[in-house]
Amino acid sequence: MTPEPPCEAFHDLLRGMAALSANPIVADVARLYGKGAPADLSIACNHKQFASKQWLVEALAATLPRPDGPVWVLGAWYGVLGALLLQDPRLAVPEVVSLDIDPGCAPVAETLNHRHVATGRFRAVTADMTALDFAAQSPAPGLVINTSCEHLDDVPGWIATLPAGLPLVLQSNDYYREPDHRSCVPTLDAFRAQAGLGEVWFAGERPAKNYTRFMLIGRR
Ligand SMILES: C[S@@+](CC[C@H](N)C(=O)[O-])C[C@H]1O[C@@H](n2cnc3c(N)ncnc32)[C@H](O)[C@@H]1O
Repeated sequence: MTPEPPCEAFHDLLRGMAALSANPIVADVARLYGKGAPADLSIACNHKQFASKQWLVEALAATLPRPDGPVWVLGAWYGVLGALLLQDPRLAVPEVVSLDIDPGCAPVAETLNHRHVATGRFRAVTADMTALDFAAQSPAPGLVINTSCEHLDDVPGWIATLPAGLPLVLQSNDYYREPDHRSCVPTLDAFRAQAGLGEVWFAGERPAKNYTRFMLIGRR
């Protein structure tokens, strides 16, 4: 993904919002625009994206606020969820590993999360999530998050490769019209069946204008 030239209007506006809100993530997004951000960063940071990631953070705070190891975020795009996980005072996340198959994502995610890269709590990886061996990772992941299940060809096949007992947060949706979506599900029950988790601690849905998003938190 080639960065667009610095967008001065977005940069100025977001710096103003950061000053007004005193929110360090807004300041980090402003800084990213000042350095030249990809055109679709505005989609990754739109209100629907933040709402679905905040929903995840809320549910995680209520179910697994202290994961016992690094949190891997798969299909992480530009690392927005990692920024929220590391910012929320209700969560104790030792490290976020933000993984995406698109090599354009890692540099953007590390620029967005530059404060946490500096303290060793954030790193971005370019890889295919379906080719990873989580049992071989050291330290072992404390939690794996995949908010991009709808992008996989075979969700049950991927989940079967994960270590038994691994805590998971999964999101999918019923947005069949999107050409990149291959594993959409029509209902929350269909998502439960597709995931086949051994334990489910949270199951919920959030209707949006064009689709409904589903989320499961539990254990493989
Ligand atoms: C559009 S984005 C995020 C969509 C998701 N519903 C969300 O809101 O977070 C989907 C991301 O998944 C990534 N992706 C798709 N297949 C992948 C795979 N096999 N391994 C890693 N990343 C993948 C894409 O590169 C893209 O950045």
